Parts: sequence; C-alpha cells; structure tokens
Amino acid sequence: MVVGLGTGRAAARGVRALARRSDLDPSGMTCVSTSEATTALATQLGLRVVALSAVERVDFLFDGADEVSPDGLMIKGGGGAMTRERIVAALCRASGGRCVYMIDAGKLSPRLGERARLPVEVVPMAAAQVGRALSMRGLRSDVRRGPSGAEFVTDNAGLVLDAHIPEACNVHELAAWLKAMAGVIDHGLFLNECDELLVEHPPTGEVQRRPGPAKAATQTM
Ligand code: A5P
Repeated sequence: MVVGLGTGRAAARGVRALARRSDLDPSGMTCVSTSEATTALATQLGLRVVALSAVERVDFLFDGADEVSPDGLMIKGGGGAMTRERIVAALCRASGGRCVYMIDAGKLSPRLGERARLPVEVVPMAAAQVGRALSMRGLRSDVRRGPSGAEFVTDNAGLVLDAHIPEACNVHELAAWLKAMAGVIDHGLFLNECDELLVEHPPTGEVQRRPGPAKAATQTM
C-alpha cells in the first residue's frame, strides 16, 4: 500500500495515527510525502518514506485544507506545500486511489476567499510580475513572510503570494488563468482533488463524512 502524507496539523494527526496503527504491517506500507516537514515527522515516527519517483501509484492520500466551500472546492497552501500536495493528489487520483481531506467545521465557508487567502507559489524572479498581473485582475496580494520578517521560501525554493479572492470571482477560471501564467509554479485552488471530506465538529469531535467533487465526477462518468 502506498500512502500519501499531506502537510499541516490535520495531516500530522493522520501521520501520527498511521504510525500508531498496529494492524498495519509497516513492511507492507510505503509513504510519499508532500513536504520536508512531513517527511521529518513520518520518518521520526518510523514510517518508511520514499521519493515520489520511486512509486507508480498512491492508494490513499490524507491531507488538510484551509477553506472549503459547500460544493467541496478547497483552498490549500497555508503551510506553503500546495505544489507537492497537488502532485501527490494527482498521482493518487490518476492511479485510482482515494484523496481524503480533513478540516474542522470552522473552515467551511459559503464562498472561497471569505476566510482564507489564496496562496500562489512563484519563481522568485517573477514575484513582482505575477503580483502585478494578480492586481490587474482584481486580486490584491502580498509576498508571504516568515516570523522573522524574511520572505517565506517553499520546499521548491519558490516564494508565495497570498491573494485576496474578490467576491465576484469564478474560481475555475481563476485556477486555469493562474496555471497558464509564466512564473507561477502552482496555486492553492484545489477544485477536483477531493474524493472525501471529513468535517470535525467541536467540541465533541464528531466527524461528518461528505463526498467531494472528485468522487461525484467519478460517479457520473
Ligand atoms: C499546507 O500547505 C496546507 O495545504 C495545509 O494542508 C492546510 O494549510 C491545512 O493545514 P492545517 O491542517 O494545519 O490547518
């Protein structure tokens, strides 16, 4: 079994739960990771993490998200790992695996962009150029900075622009436009990746399961 490990707090809970599961034979399980941070955690907990190039499929991916609309569209990348998160999700979906995302109920929102900004990972030399293009399309953005005030640098040596999505915005068009832009590595709109969404409701921790848009698309094919 090949398991994809996401990035962030929800994903880290998944990694810990996986490492604790005594019913799974560790020798029969291989993990691929979406960030250096997740690789370090998983390795430390004894999971076998290999390079993505060493696997041809991902059977199961577990990850978190920053904001989810009622139809299961997501913003990801609060941790800056969206490029690798999408790559692993793409292999999972292409190889017939299942992509499961977990959020707490506070991340549900009527419209993407209401509670989270959209991260756009860029080649550093293109940051100003992409920022201007975003602004011309009505998306204000700032270069993400770390706690020291220095520019946040991703695992891919990219920078991140955090953009405000305006109210009247077609996110499908925005996603395609961003993908086609010179200098953009990837962005945090995840519109087709989710097979299943787990929504955790505080304070009880009750978890509600919802089919995601990817699952719905598979069922109508
Ligand atoms: C990492 O880049 C992100 O896509 C995370 O998956 C997302 O920010 C959710 O993180 P938390 O589970 O920490 O809220």
